[in-house]
Amino acid sequence: MGTAKLIYDGKEYELPTVVGSEDEVGVDISKLRALTGGAITLDSGYGNTGSCQSSITFINGEKGILRYRGYPIEQIAKSGTFTEVCYLLIYGSLPTRQQLDEFNESLTYHSMLHEDMKKLFEGYPPTAHPMAILSSMVTSLATYYPHSHREDRIDLNIVRLLAKATTIASLSYKKSIGQPFIYPRNDLSYTENFLHMMFAVPAEPYVVNPVVERALNLLLILHADHEQNCSTSTVRMVGSSQANLYASIAAGISALWGPLHGGANQKVMEMLKMIHEDGDNYRKYVDMAKDKSSGFRLMGFGHRVYKNFDPRAKILKQAADDVLEDLGVDDPLLEIARNLEQVALEDEFFIQRKLYPNVDFYSGIIYSAMGIPTNMFTVMFALGRLPGWISQWKEMREDPKSRINRPRQIYTGPTESTYTPIDER
Ligand SMILES: CC(C)(COP(=O)(O)OP(=O)(O)OC[C@H]1O[C@@H](n2cnc3c(N)ncnc32)[C@H](O)[C@@H]1OP(=O)(O)O)[C@@H](O)C(=O)NCCC(=O)NCCS
Repeated sequence: MGTAKLIYDGKEYELPTVVGSEDEVGVDISKLRALTGGAITLDSGYGNTGSCQSSITFINGEKGILRYRGYPIEQIAKSGTFTEVCYLLIYGSLPTRQQLDEFNESLTYHSMLHEDMKKLFEGYPPTAHPMAILSSMVTSLATYYPHSHREDRIDLNIVRLLAKATTIASLSYKKSIGQPFIYPRNDLSYTENFLHMMFAVPAEPYVVNPVVERALNLLLILHADHEQNCSTSTVRMVGSSQANLYASIAAGISALWGPLHGGANQKVMEMLKMIHEDGDNYRKYVDMAKDKSSGFRLMGFGHRVYKNFDPRAKILKQAADDVLEDLGVDDPLLEIARNLEQVALEDEFFIQRKLYPNVDFYSGIIYSAMGIPTNMFTVMFALGRLPGWISQWKEMREDPKSRINRPRQIYTGPTESTYTPIDER
């Protein structure tokens, strides 16, 4: 273990360093406040702060590396299935055929919702955003399946959450378009079942298109985990108070909703549509994004961690071409996206700031081609991110060093003032 030296107020302090398995170094400041008599670190946005040690996902933003439990995303995306990735993230190793079969079987078995939950859906207005419904319904699961400290019960609740989330998501879509709810079918795989519940109607048979199913599998895999991002940190933050699984994940869903995080894929589509309606004039929007006073940003560009390329965006760019071709969809928005990317990547403003397309840039175009409506995009992201949130929550829970998360602050408000009773003000 090495050390780092800090000179503060004329005194020198030695702080231990922690080195990860990929040689990333953290200066351990956990004793800083006690040693210095009150000094803390200030890192708004947490860009330089490690909140935990984790063995789940490795990212090297400079080199564009993303690995789940050591396996490169490119390899997993090529041959893996989403439920296999769920197993890998949550239980730490790739499942054997038998383990995966059993896992898939229990996901199928638990996919039905308690019938009373249908009444909850009925109470929402048809215009309700499906992210609001998803978050509320995931919290509501805690009322049907209370938390227990028994490991087997926790595992069961994890499976229930993964299994029922697709049912909740598809019912929220059915509710928004006024179609009857479609129940899950045990003869279908996890991804087929979701597409069936989304797009089948009682009046006619629905056959899952294998191209769509493969694309869904890929999209879910690419979103499965991304270490300590905003929503995952939220899950850990809420979970650190020992809040139950459903409450912690529901908080993560809310954090994901924002346009700077999971809401970006919806914003990308809205932006591309806006450019299309404005005569495909993408150069105008690149100029607007460069002009800070416009308040406009190119949605789907830039990333807090990836400063070279987002490996997920690279995979999705190719997938967008393939899926649209396979499905025979000719979407003018794909052409705009390609042009926008080309112009931005050659522009000094974007080069200097290392702004590249992120995972959200092409995912919306694929979702659209699959028939998924824009307001469901962030829900799709949430379904993909579930195993990541769950595995991070589980890891935190099982870590004996885990403590309630409680950051400090530098207070900048008024100094002590004397309270005046209301009649004297
Ligand atoms: C992802 C994002 C929130 C990362 O933010 P961040 O790491 O805090 O980066 P900053 O906001 O500090 O941006 C750094 C610089 O690039 C500029 N910038 C960042 N993203 C930009 C974008 N999408 N379009 C135009 N300019 C952008 C900023 O204005 C800033 O410029 P400056 O250094 O001259 O002030 C940000 O890039 C963004 O808002 N992107 C669009 C939304 C999006 O796609 N989110 C999905 C993330 S997966």
